[in-house]
Amino acid sequence: MPPPIPLSLNIVGAGRLGKTLGRLWHRRHSFEISGICNQTLQSARAAQTFIGAGEACASLADLPAADCWLIATADDQIEDVARQLGPLLPTDRTTPPMVFHCSGALPAAALADCAPAQIASAHPVHSFAEPAQSLETFTGSTVALEGDSGACEQLRQAFVQLGCKTLTLTAPQKVLYHSGSVIACNYLTALMDLSLQAFSGAGIDEKTARELLEPIVLQTARNNFALGPGRALTGPIARGDSETVRKQLDALTALRPLLADNYRALGLAAVDLAQRTGLTNAQAQRLQAVLNQPSK
Ligand SMILES: NC(=O)c1ccc[n+]([C@@H]2O[C@H](COP(=O)([O-])OP(=O)(O)OC[C@H]3O[C@@H](n4cnc5c(N)ncnc54)[C@H](OP(=O)(O)O)[C@@H]3O)[C@@H](O)[C@H]2O)c1
Repeated sequence: MPPPIPLSLNIVGAGRLGKTLGRLWHRRHSFEISGICNQTLQSARAAQTFIGAGEACASLADLPAADCWLIATADDQIEDVARQLGPLLPTDRTTPPMVFHCSGALPAAALADCAPAQIASAHPVHSFAEPAQSLETFTGSTVALEGDSGACEQLRQAFVQLGCKTLTLTAPQKVLYHSGSVIACNYLTALMDLSLQAFSGAGIDEKTARELLEPIVLQTARNNFALGPGRALTGPIARGDSETVRKQLDALTALRPLLADNYRALGLAAVDLAQRTGLTNAQAQRLQAVLNQPSK
């Protein structure tokens, strides 16, 4: 039996995520990449070259008809693009088209103006910071699906073909679900920057600091996944060393209050964690008193 003909896919917003998924689906023959529309035709042409398929178009109105539409602009533009796209979608088909976005924060309902199209959101838990690298590392990522059941099933199959796991969510779950991913992923990057600022304050250059951090940060991440946060936590808070914490807080306050504010907030979270895994109440209270003391 010949393989089934892949559904056609238009991509509106072929940036970091859009062009990576476009290229992966094209390679896997999961979708036939049809039209590509970015803010500028030049950018759409560059995405077309990266994907290796599709036709760069100057505007939404120039895009060809398609079975599926991915809106992968920044979150703030998704509703606006859906509002423009709705009247352009055919209403006379026996099978309505499917429109989806990949935002972790927004529900499928952000695409309500595309009705009667089937709508869904499909959020890959993956950082597309470097698309060429994501082509190699995307397999194994989890994708959270939410929206119309038919659309979610189509997308589940398309992501499974890329070697992904999928998870089905309801719309109200999405905000906290996405917050969890932001805290662990985006804030880890913000923490690295704060850490490098502290090293810089100690006169240690960024290259040296990154070299010395890499093995311990990677080991800490591995410990968290293998043992869970409770057993992975080490350092002055896990030991109850409140005097060390006070000296560090004073030094960070003198260097930059933003560093001290973050040390304080995460220190209190670490005390809460350590209390669940062996820190005594007396040790916790001493640490909390130091961490709650306002900066001088
Ligand atoms: N990046 C990630 O790691 C990641 C992970 C999970 C989910 N997501 C989600 O994926 C979506 C895209 O994120 P991204 O990081 O790939 O964004 P991005 O790299 O900034 O790309 C956005 C693309 O949208 C295009 N665009 C913006 N406004 C447009 C409009 N009105 N019409 C047509 N095209 C328009 C831009 O065109 P120009 O190139 O011409 O400016 C750009 O190509 C977001 O919903 C985000 O939440 C991203």
